Amino acid sequence: MTSNIKPCKTIVGGIDKIEDAAFLIKSGRVVAFPTETVYGLGANAFDSQAVASIYEIKGRPQDNPFIVHIADVDDLDRVARCVPSAAIDLFESFSPGPLTIVLKKRHELPDVVTAGLDTVGIRIPAHIMARQLIKLAGVPIAAPSANISGRISPTSAMHVFEYFNGKIPLILDGGESQVGIESTVLDLTKSVPIILRPGSITLGDLKEVLGDVFDNSSIEQNKPESPGAKYRHYAPQCPAVCAKSIQSIIEIYDSNIDKCPVIIGAEHIKDKLGERAFLSLGQTSNDHARTLFSMLRRAEQHYQYIIVQYFDDDNATGIYAGLNNRIIKATR
Ligand code: TXA
Ligand code: MG
Repeated sequence: MTSNIKPCKTIVGGIDKIEDAAFLIKSGRVVAFPTETVYGLGANAFDSQAVASIYEIKGRPQDNPFIVHIADVDDLDRVARCVPSAAIDLFESFSPGPLTIVLKKRHELPDVVTAGLDTVGIRIPAHIMARQLIKLAGVPIAAPSANISGRISPTSAMHVFEYFNGKIPLILDGGESQVGIESTVLDLTKSVPIILRPGSITLGDLKEVLGDVFDNSSIEQNKPESPGAKYRHYAPQCPAVCAKSIQSIIEIYDSNIDKCPVIIGAEHIKDKLGERAFLSLGQTSNDHARTLFSMLRRAEQHYQYIIVQYFDDDNATGIYAGLNNRIIKATR
């Protein structure tokens, strides 16, 4: 198959480039933009060719659909149909913010966005530049995370530049992503709402609004309900493992000392590690989520063996459910 990607100079710019970014989206080009979760690689959701080129730029499997980003709940009807009142309640409670809701798709939305599914994941991002970009472009923006498929998700413009320099015309720089792990994905098209991917909007948060919610995001599941669940994610470029106790973290480190190892973990374990190489995830649970991907990225660039602290058991609650999900996927 011939490539549709034209090599180009990649500009990285701030808010002063937002009109250029909107113009590029309207012209059928792909632009990277900041969100509060991770950076996205966006195109006009109604432009099939532009959306198709995202799969190619990312090396994304064709059966893994994209989330559609809108600026306001009023725009829901442009992409979804048969919207249940629960969806409106959820958007009112958690949007703009890191929640993606899977709904029935409008037929007008090109199949390439949803990889042929009859449903579409919709999110209203909170980052001011993301919302301005969608408003100025005047169209919903289809966007996966702005990383090469399978690699670590980007939480800064520099991460995106390292992945796609020369492949996209513009990266909007909106600083470090403040949530740091991708949105919670919730499917509302089934009889009971199902969490397909855990994130910083937790099972507990969703239960408060919906009552009944089923958590299907366990990565041990046999039948992935979300197409993305069956692919390798967040894979560092070197071997990576996770461990819970300080004792086993140290044992793994010391038995791999010839491999240039590094430990990634909460700030408070640092004192127990002696002189061993360590990258801190900071102090609070929010810090841990915000910095996980950037520390994994730093580790793969400077070390050859990564040991990540695993935070709790399999029943971890709150943001640790999302965090542990990413840690397990990055280290298997
Ligand atoms: O925070 C986020 O969600 C970021 C930012 C850029 O918004 N986006 C993101 O997109 O993480 P992506 O493509 O890397 O992950 C989207 C996930 C995939 O696992 C995909 O399979 C799932 O959402 N998904 C998208 N549409 C779906 C649908 N209609 N039904 C089930 N799963 C869907
Ligand atoms: Mg992704």
